[in-house]
Amino acid sequence: MKHFLDVSDHSPAEIQDLLDLAISLKKEHFEKGNRPLFAGKVLAMIFQKPSLRTRVSFDMAMRHMGGDALYLSPNEIGLGKRESIADVARVMAGYVQVVMARVFDHQHVVELAKWSSVPVINGLSDYSHPCQAMADALTIQEKFGSLKGLNVAYVGDGNNVAVSLMHISVMLGANFIIANPEGYEMPAAAQKIGADLAAKSGANITYLRDPHEAVRSAQVIYTDTWTSMGQEEETAKREAVFPPYQVNQKLVSEADKDVIVMHCLPAHRNHELTDDVADGPHSAIFPQAHNRLHAQKAILARLLDVA
Ligand code: CP
Ligand code: NVA
Repeated sequence: MKHFLDVSDHSPAEIQDLLDLAISLKKEHFEKGNRPLFAGKVLAMIFQKPSLRTRVSFDMAMRHMGGDALYLSPNEIGLGKRESIADVARVMAGYVQVVMARVFDHQHVVELAKWSSVPVINGLSDYSHPCQAMADALTIQEKFGSLKGLNVAYVGDGNNVAVSLMHISVMLGANFIIANPEGYEMPAAAQKIGADLAAKSGANITYLRDPHEAVRSAQVIYTDTWTSMGQEEETAKREAVFPPYQVNQKLVSEADKDVIVMHCLPAHRNHELTDDVADGPHSAIFPQAHNRLHAQKAILARLLDVA
């Protein structure tokens, strides 16, 4: 593994290997303690957008395992503005052992990887959020043993989180059902990649408008914000379109009785996800957030070739 830009860049076997490693590193973390596998290693974290989970979980992943992390805020570096991405990549590679970047334009993280001689991780772009998908798959696997044959229903905007969740779900043999309003579909390129991955694994992808139909027989209901970072000027328009896609008690009651409700967070409570569901018995949102730590330890360990 050279970089980690998208789950779909890797084989299902590689993704499953990362999940298995995450499970064993998580066990070590809680039972024996972390080994200093990242001693002498530094992760640079470039952020063009805000973050809680990504920033803190990557930083802690490095520290727990004897390494260090460096936070570079949106006001620093000026990726592609103050300096070309190609130059940033080549300078950074002389200082640190691995780079994580959260960007607007997906091509910026691709360009960073193209020029970087050290591994680059996509910490969210406008197109995808692969580290989130790894934590999501880990959470689903912990609950159900495996993703194979499950129905994963995503309700809401066909955004970056939906793209990575669809790809990882079908790669690992889960059926993926998405209900979104007209005009808020996933990018065509992501749908095409999903179709190819599903054809290989035998999973199905279903595109719907009706959230009620989507969650019927779902073991996982997933939602995300209606307005992603960078789309703030569309907030009013989106707040008018998305309310029928709210994940609330009624919608959850229409799914499988053992359904888990997931959200990458930050949640806009009582917009896309009601308080009673977020804090109710089906909610997996906090274990899911905590699994970012363990999933990313596995990604870092493989990229740094230390496990
Ligand atoms: N889920 C997620 O990536 O959260 P942050 O934006 O807080 O990093
Ligand atoms: N879709 C959201 C995810 C945040 C973690 C966004 O891009 O803002």
